[in-house]
Amino acid sequence: MTKLIEVDEQQQIFHLHNEQISYLLTVEAGQTLSHLYFGKRVRGYHGQLTYPRVDRGFSGNLPGSDDRTFSKDTLPREYSSAGEMDYHLPATVVRQADGANALNLQYVGYTVLEGKPKLAGLPAAYVEDDSEAETLVITLRDEVTGLDYQLSYTIYRALPVITRSVKVVNNGTQAVQLEKVASMQLDFVDRDFEVISLPGAHVNERHPERRPVSFGVQSFESRRGTSSHQMSPFIALVDKQTDEFSGDAYGFNFVYSGNHKFSLEKDQLAQLRLLVGINDYNFTWKLEPAQSFQTPEVLMAYSDQGLNKMSQTFHQLIGKRVVRSKYRDLKRPIVVNNWEATYFDFDEEKLKPIVAEAKQLGIEMFVLDDGWFGHRDDDYSSLGDWQVFAKKFPQGLGHFADYVHNQGLKFGLWFEPEMISYDSDLYRQHPEYLMQVPNRAPSPSRSQYILDLCQAEVRDNVVEQVATILSQGQVDYVKWDMNRHLSDIYSLSLPADRQGEVYHRYVLGYYDLMERLTAKFPDVLFEGCSGGGGRFDAGVAYYMPQIWTSDNTDALARLTIQMGTSLAFPPSMMTAHVSAVPNHQTGRVTPFETRGAAAMSAVFGYELDLTKLTSAEKAAVKEQIAAYNQMRALVLEGKFYRLKSPLDSNQAAWNFVSADKKQVFVAVFNVLAQAQPYLTKTKLAGLDKDKCYRNLATGQVYGGDELMNLGFYDPVVRYDFASQTYLFEAVTEE
Ligand code: GLA
Repeated sequence: MTKLIEVDEQQQIFHLHNEQISYLLTVEAGQTLSHLYFGKRVRGYHGQLTYPRVDRGFSGNLPGSDDRTFSKDTLPREYSSAGEMDYHLPATVVRQADGANALNLQYVGYTVLEGKPKLAGLPAAYVEDDSEAETLVITLRDEVTGLDYQLSYTIYRALPVITRSVKVVNNGTQAVQLEKVASMQLDFVDRDFEVISLPGAHVNERHPERRPVSFGVQSFESRRGTSSHQMSPFIALVDKQTDEFSGDAYGFNFVYSGNHKFSLEKDQLAQLRLLVGINDYNFTWKLEPAQSFQTPEVLMAYSDQGLNKMSQTFHQLIGKRVVRSKYRDLKRPIVVNNWEATYFDFDEEKLKPIVAEAKQLGIEMFVLDDGWFGHRDDDYSSLGDWQVFAKKFPQGLGHFADYVHNQGLKFGLWFEPEMISYDSDLYRQHPEYLMQVPNRAPSPSRSQYILDLCQAEVRDNVVEQVATILSQGQVDYVKWDMNRHLSDIYSLSLPADRQGEVYHRYVLGYYDLMERLTAKFPDVLFEGCSGGGGRFDAGVAYYMPQIWTSDNTDALARLTIQMGTSLAFPPSMMTAHVSAVPNHQTGRVTPFETRGAAAMSAVFGYELDLTKLTSAEKAAVKEQIAAYNQMRALVLEGKFYRLKSPLDSNQAAWNFVSADKKQVFVAVFNVLAQAQPYLTKTKLAGLDKDKCYRNLATGQVYGGDELMNLGFYDPVVRYDFASQTYLFEAVTEE
């Protein structure tokens, strides 16, 4: 098998390559690790195309050297620190015992490993077989402090992907305070990029924004303690002409569920530095001698064919090599969730008819949402008390679960285990479990508070309570929610000089919970949630294969949210439900089939009172389920192509293509009707140009090349929010 990492020891050149990409680095004067290239594959590198030596005023030189043409301030680097002659934002800052924060990280050696090592305590992309990837670990050392920085680069054989992370090892004799440790740095010369980010809000997640990279610093970050609705841990750098199908696109996806920061700095020479890592806001980490600190990982994807290919790379990588659950490769059940059907106003008798109706319609799982525990009739109480609410389930939860199972449905249950209400037995018994700053009243959000997951005892309590219920063997699915962001950042379990660790330790605590529970209950399907998509990231995907994409269930709003999400994450990670109209978040009335078309383009379900549907709507549900059954594997496993965006047209359109290119699902949405509409066409993507495809509804046959190049006319419609779906199958010979 061809090697993926070649090292020229003589010239100190490292070349990571597969058939699609190359990543090149070398060692320059002062043992400075320098970046040469990341992009389309080159066969080899002859060592001449190094960064030119130019004397730049006010960019100083190496200590002890009078070579004015060499400066760390201009050289493209792999990893920078404070205290060097480099005025950019540094990748790392370390406060030392004497108060200094200068480091001089010099190259000392490397190792190449088969496969990809795990990251202790952290989610990361993995390999199933060592032949899938190779890993280069380069050690940089600061002689004065004795700190080693081990930079890891993994290249996958079959994907245009490199993953990066950093481990800091204190081989010195004194403790230091890490004030910043980026997971990666990437410097570019002569690239006039634009940046795409995914800002948003609760019920309005991941709306792509594209803007020029201008001089100075731009940052995209979360300081909310989670990856957040407000800014996803993802950016793409693209050329001005890059679109969905052509041009360079570099994507950076941070496998982390806490405070993140993506910093872009365009400098005096129009060179660009990108840093990605844990946000340095309210972050410090005390590193004692002989201890190490592992950063989370960044997934970097390169595409020479526009944004769709970049996204497909992430879909493949995250869907198949970050998600670990056994449901990674299994069909996910079609659910009905009672949240928008009943909110808190339910009991067993009220739910049973919904379950019975679900069975009639072919739905496969009933999910009991918030309100089944403690004495929770509204959102003011009971978080922390994970015992059944006897008023609503007088014969116990098991009795209701049996009813659901006897109807032939699976049973799912909602939890919000990271939280505590003042009005809870848990708080009355353990007020010290609540995250709080001494002598200050903690801030409520949705009238609830955060459990201090830095404390091992708190984590044990959560695991025990959740495990007690799951151990009964009646819960097939868990929706793991988190309905507020962090505040009152302090842990009663940590000394003063470790309070800067709380944000990160909270995330590590959350990962510890997920690791323990998913390992103990491998057959349970876990779905992540945080007020919808408030913690929608690749870190969560490592533990839970699917996430509730947004609390906004309006079909039209979902077009942008799901398309935006698809830039970085696979459709198999997004859950989407058909809900009632007028929609509870927007008040909008959309056609039933449009709600179905949007939801069927992800992990599908319903979220409404099925007993209130008209007979026509019930027939439509049956049709949708039959259609989804035909293409469920295609949606979960196929290649997803964005065709038209609702952000720049009156339409949205996408198609899924199976790996063998024999099956195609297309959804086209028309936002507003017009009196005198221009005609529009939908041109498909990713088909086999030499195959013929039959439209399963009409029986009509088209060439793959026809569908991709001529496209078909969209029908003229006289109502708003219309949609069409098409299922094509390749026919043998026509
Ligand atoms: C969050 C979730 C919703 C629902 C409610 C229950 O907002 O995103 O789907 O579970 O909590 O309180």
